[in-house]
Amino acid sequence: MNLTIKPVPSVSGNITVDPDKSLSHRAILIGSLAEGRTVVKNCLAGEDVECTLKAVSQLGVSAGRAQDGSVTIDGTGLFGMEQPAQALYLGNSGTSMRLLLGVLAGQPFQCELHGDESLSKRPMDRVAIPLEKMGATVRGLIEPHLPPMFIQGARLKPITYETPLASAQVKSAIIFAGLYASGVTTVIEPRPSRDHTERMLKAFGAHIVQDGARVSVTGPARLKPQTLTVMGDPSSAAFLLVAAIILPHSRVTVEGVNLNSTRTGFVEVLRRMGAQIDVKVKGETAGEPFGDIEASSSALKAVEIGPEDIPGIIDELPILMVACAFASGTTSIRGAGELRVKETDRIVSMAAGLNRMDAQIKELEDGVEIQGVRKLAGANVQSFGDHRTAMSLAVAALSARGTTTVHDTDCIRTSFPSFPSLLKQVAGMTAG
Ligand code: S3P
Repeated sequence: MNLTIKPVPSVSGNITVDPDKSLSHRAILIGSLAEGRTVVKNCLAGEDVECTLKAVSQLGVSAGRAQDGSVTIDGTGLFGMEQPAQALYLGNSGTSMRLLLGVLAGQPFQCELHGDESLSKRPMDRVAIPLEKMGATVRGLIEPHLPPMFIQGARLKPITYETPLASAQVKSAIIFAGLYASGVTTVIEPRPSRDHTERMLKAFGAHIVQDGARVSVTGPARLKPQTLTVMGDPSSAAFLLVAAIILPHSRVTVEGVNLNSTRTGFVEVLRRMGAQIDVKVKGETAGEPFGDIEASSSALKAVEIGPEDIPGIIDELPILMVACAFASGTTSIRGAGELRVKETDRIVSMAAGLNRMDAQIKELEDGVEIQGVRKLAGANVQSFGDHRTAMSLAVAALSARGTTTVHDTDCIRTSFPSFPSLLKQVAGMTAG
């Protein structure tokens, strides 16, 4: 599928976005390890999360989705999973593969995991190294550190591990393995990454201690099943909010969004750039705050975005690059080398797409330099099979001169299936 987008004068509306992807994965995995029935209301029906759901079913957990979008999981407890008859296929989803490796490290069986072309290029040594220190055997079947992966679980020992990267996927894999190890497993990150695993495990009764960028889990854990609701994904909300900021006479409110502060760094960065963007906390569910975010048309100025900002905006960097393309002055984004190992190399994909639209982006080894321009021009651009590149370019196209076609946009279904219709709704545009 392609998305063809004509410019619109403005966007407006009150909307809700699809449920949070990170929380949906975790709710399925943690529910599977709990002892009894967990109900996950408003669980994302994106392809990535469907991969996690199918994987736990292959591991012998009875789990299914109802018409209303809720997922019911009959958790088997930590040690109730069974060796799957076939390799687990995890599509495009790095989160599924890395988090599952953590769970599988503690199982008394072996298993293979594979994915699509993009996932087959994503580094797994970042989780294999600590899981091997805990006693599991984890290796790539073709290349040592790339999927397809083989894992042989073991009786694990607790470790204290300083991760070289701030990565919630790595941290979560170690925490999941730590549930199985007798004693205290500690992860220390260079900067704190999103902490959904910690919060959700606490809600399920695990003993977790968080202290800044340091987290400890005590195993072996017993998890109590829960009924929980997943709120809207702030990373998805960011696309529509930036659309309102870069277009004139525009205002978009996204209601019922997860407002965990490890996820809302993009709001702070946009504020620094001069954007009018407001957050209203409305409540808390499963240890996570939620509420509304409203953004309106703003004159933006260039800022410096540095390594300390990156973990909190890692998934929003592509859409922030679109905002920066309209800011007066030159923005520099540094310390963002992790963008090169996402679903595609997002430094390359975003610079290629936006520069085809007449932006002025210079690639750096660990980021980009973006000189703001007044107007972009419609063009034929590529998603590189990456959902966030596809959606970012689609938003940029709303305010470009002429028509833009974003090619290869099926990938949007991995995280935000409602994006094309929501874009139409706020913009009243023709999307084909
Ligand atoms: C995620 C963590 C992030 C993020 C990804 C989802 C998660 O990856 O980019 O989309 O759910 O834990 P890293 O933690 O590897 O940066």
